[in-house]
Amino acid sequence: MTALRKTPVALISGAAPFAIRSERASDVVAREALLDACFGATRHMRTCQRLRDGRAPAEGLALSAVRQGLLVGTVRLWHVSAGGVPALVLGPLAVDPSCRKLGIGRALVQRALAAAKAGGHGAVLLLGDAPYYSRFGFSALTTGQLRLPGPFEPDRLLDLELREGALDGASGMIVPTGMAAPQGKPRLAARSRKLAPRAA
Ligand SMILES: CC(C)(COP(=O)(O)OP(=O)(O)OC[C@H]1O[C@@H](n2cnc3c(N)ncnc32)[C@H](O)[C@@H]1OP(=O)(O)O)[C@@H](O)C(=O)NCCC(=O)NCCS
Repeated sequence: MTALRKTPVALISGAAPFAIRSERASDVVAREALLDACFGATRHMRTCQRLRDGRAPAEGLALSAVRQGLLVGTVRLWHVSAGGVPALVLGPLAVDPSCRKLGIGRALVQRALAAAKAGGHGAVLLLGDAPYYSRFGFSALTTGQLRLPGPFEPDRLLDLELREGALDGASGMIVPTGMAAPQGKPRLAARSRKLAPRAA
């Protein structure tokens, strides 16, 4: 009897739909907890964090995945200059471990890329696993001339042009160009910088 009751619950839970929507202020606590769970307490030490410290994400390009009323995924994109060429950097992307392999990560990335393209952005960069991001068209083939403000593995620096030629001539340091984060967030960034300036 117990087994009969448990089975349908598991099936329904596994099949529960999710929604991708713009991030809300009320998502922040859950988002930060999810990122801590996925990347660990030292996540603020990562090189890509130097591109986000004290900045707000690009407008309309902070997304949340919600399932059964809970935040289960997040992705944000950030304005950068890629050696003088305007671009976006994607990250962090994270999905709750209990909800993986349901297509939530794919949906977050696809929705973010579509929104970036619709917003007129020409290119997206990221530091991540090529075996995952290649399914969206990202590759390391043309990022060899780019650098990040900290240590990184070159074969993990990936790009995707949303507009052909958008990264032509992109060479040199990737630096943040986004607007300052609303008051309150820079304090966290400043604290992270003090803790751990240059780890990957
Ligand atoms: C990467 C991540 C966002 C994928 O989320 P998800 O919702 O499970 O993604 P999807 O359901 O769209 O895709 C799952 C597929 O991606 C694959 N995958 C997940 N992470 C991968 C990785 N690092 N490299 C290669 N493939 C990966 C899974 O094996 C699965 O493959 P399948 O479709 O053949 O079964 C999630 O695993 C995560 O949050 N990881 C920890 C944080 C992280 O590493 N983020 C950045 C990725 S570099």
